[in-house]
Amino acid sequence: MGVKIIGLGASIPLKLVTNEELSKVLDTSDEWITTRTGIKRRHHSSLNETTSYLSYKAGIAALKSVTQADDSDIDTLIVATSTPDRRCPATAPKVATMLGLGKIRAFDINAVCTGFVYALELADALIRSGKSRRLMLLGADVFTSILDKQDRTTYPLFGDAAGAMILTNSDDDNILSTYTGSDGEYEHLITIPDGGTESALRLDGVSKNIFFKMAGKEVFLKAISHMKESVSEVLNLSGLTKEDVDYLVPHQANKRIIDTLTQFLDLNEDQALMSLEEYGNTSAASIPITLARHVKAGTINSGNKIVVTAFGGGITWGAALLRWPDEKINADLI
Ligand code: COA
Repeated sequence: MGVKIIGLGASIPLKLVTNEELSKVLDTSDEWITTRTGIKRRHHSSLNETTSYLSYKAGIAALKSVTQADDSDIDTLIVATSTPDRRCPATAPKVATMLGLGKIRAFDINAVCTGFVYALELADALIRSGKSRRLMLLGADVFTSILDKQDRTTYPLFGDAAGAMILTNSDDDNILSTYTGSDGEYEHLITIPDGGTESALRLDGVSKNIFFKMAGKEVFLKAISHMKESVSEVLNLSGLTKEDVDYLVPHQANKRIIDTLTQFLDLNEDQALMSLEEYGNTSAASIPITLARHVKAGTINSGNKIVVTAFGGGITWGAALLRWPDEKINADLI
């Protein structure tokens, strides 16, 4: 049994924030942000644009993108997020209800920026095992909800978004291999120190340090080495080589990291697909929104072999090797 990609969609909040606008309220500049990261703009959620709402919209876009006539219902919904609507319960059951999918299996997973790759690996296993016949997976994050607006080392880097993919069991196979890993020794590199059980027990329920923190330089180096390892693993697992790869769709955190991976895979710059300049780092949403953008633009076509890879808090990392399906997917960003 294979796993086929049949739907793809994304949702981007309305509010656009440019580097120039940020430079008016923070000690930063368009020049610094552009040269150090490649980001020019990002979109910020307004009050009602929560993780569930962006997920719902991305889910609608993905449902609309399906072109194959088939009567199977979605039986599983996974939301990869580290910014759920509430700490408890998970966001996925709410999204399943908003989408009218019925009383299906629905749960969140948290691998921060690697969330979508973790969800993809899990979705692949659920379908191959026969537990699920058709599944929607989402990467959705509203990082502006956890950022300190005064912190120039994090605030300019992130944007809000959600991306959705629909998978089904099939004789075709579009997921050729997946690989994930983690190392909890480095949890301090990307973290919100307080607000969980550790601080609740220690601080008697009072959260002090509730903003997202990232040790940028160390993360930069670890991201490169673990994403290189991950892409090598998925190539080995599928018996393919670098020459077989048509496109790289990496986590959109930093153009300099993406350039290093592009060189590592011996690809041209235009084979490394980007959305970073427009949306910033959207955490778990970054891979599906980048896929949706380039499927919509017609860059990604049937039969293309695509390596997706991510790195995030935990620390976590992973990759998947995809073969783009033959049937058209009307992907859209709404
Ligand atoms: N504007 C202007 N200056 C800034 C700034 C900003 N927005 N942010 C940081 N700086 C300053 C720093 O304070 C520092 O100043 P100092 O030398 O006086 O101390 C200087 O710029 C260099 O900072 P540094 O952190 O060394 O920059 P960098 O080149 O490593 O770039 C990141 C910072 C965050 C862009 C980069 O490290 C990065 O992308 N890391 C990886 C992110 C990632 O992969 N995340 C994935 C998981 S989410």
